[in-house]
Amino acid sequence: MHWIQVGDYDEMSELAASIFEQQLLRKPDSTLGLATGGSPQGFYVSLVKRYINGGFSFKKVNTFNLDEYIGLGPDDETSYHHYMKRSFFDFVDIPVSQQHLPNGLADDLLLECQLYEQAIEESGWIDLQLLGIGVNGHIGFNEPGTAFQSKTQVIDLTEETRNKNSKYFSSEAEVPAQAITMGLRTIMKAKQIILLAFGEEKAGAIARLQAGTVTEDFPASILHHHPNVKVLYGK
Ligand code: F6R
Repeated sequence: MHWIQVGDYDEMSELAASIFEQQLLRKPDSTLGLATGGSPQGFYVSLVKRYINGGFSFKKVNTFNLDEYIGLGPDDETSYHHYMKRSFFDFVDIPVSQQHLPNGLADDLLLECQLYEQAIEESGWIDLQLLGIGVNGHIGFNEPGTAFQSKTQVIDLTEETRNKNSKYFSSEAEVPAQAITMGLRTIMKAKQIILLAFGEEKAGAIARLQAGTVTEDFPASILHHHPNVKVLYGK
């Protein structure tokens, strides 16, 4: 694991965006794994700016997001589909058919998980995966206790996660109880991983990750078994 301490949030965002830009320059048909939430917001702003300045394109890229809430669709402002459109997809040239998120409205959720996992595999797995980290160590929505061998699956969100994410909803009761998430095995198949963690709130999770004990009780710890992870962190 490669630890990179940053001075501020903008430095983290710029550094992450530059790593994605380099990836696209090297491999224009990359498969990118994307995250939502507060951590990558500045990253998307920077990546869009770099795209507008020219030099690279997303036309041949496939993207797969980590997760989506069950019960929310693309038109719902609190869905991750909506987040991705307003933060990124609306400003770059990725064909819609190459933008993938789990369908939280699928009638058959288990089938949806299987198809999502299969689509990632058929895409040759992810070249470059962006991650945030939950205060409880979740990556994607793989909450503590999730099997390290998990594939894309339906997950029950913990009260802690629902409480933390309630700031994006009118109340905690509005936060869906479940989500579809890429599994830990799926994430580990990525060739390169960038984890973003900024702020006092994340300091505990980062300290625990740095301590190095690998346990399913702290899902992010699986990253110690990955050969190419950069952790961009600071407070
Ligand atoms: C988001 C995701 C989550 C977040 C994590 C941190 O797609 O999969 O693991 O990365 O909950 O969220 P923020 O960045 O909002 O603190």
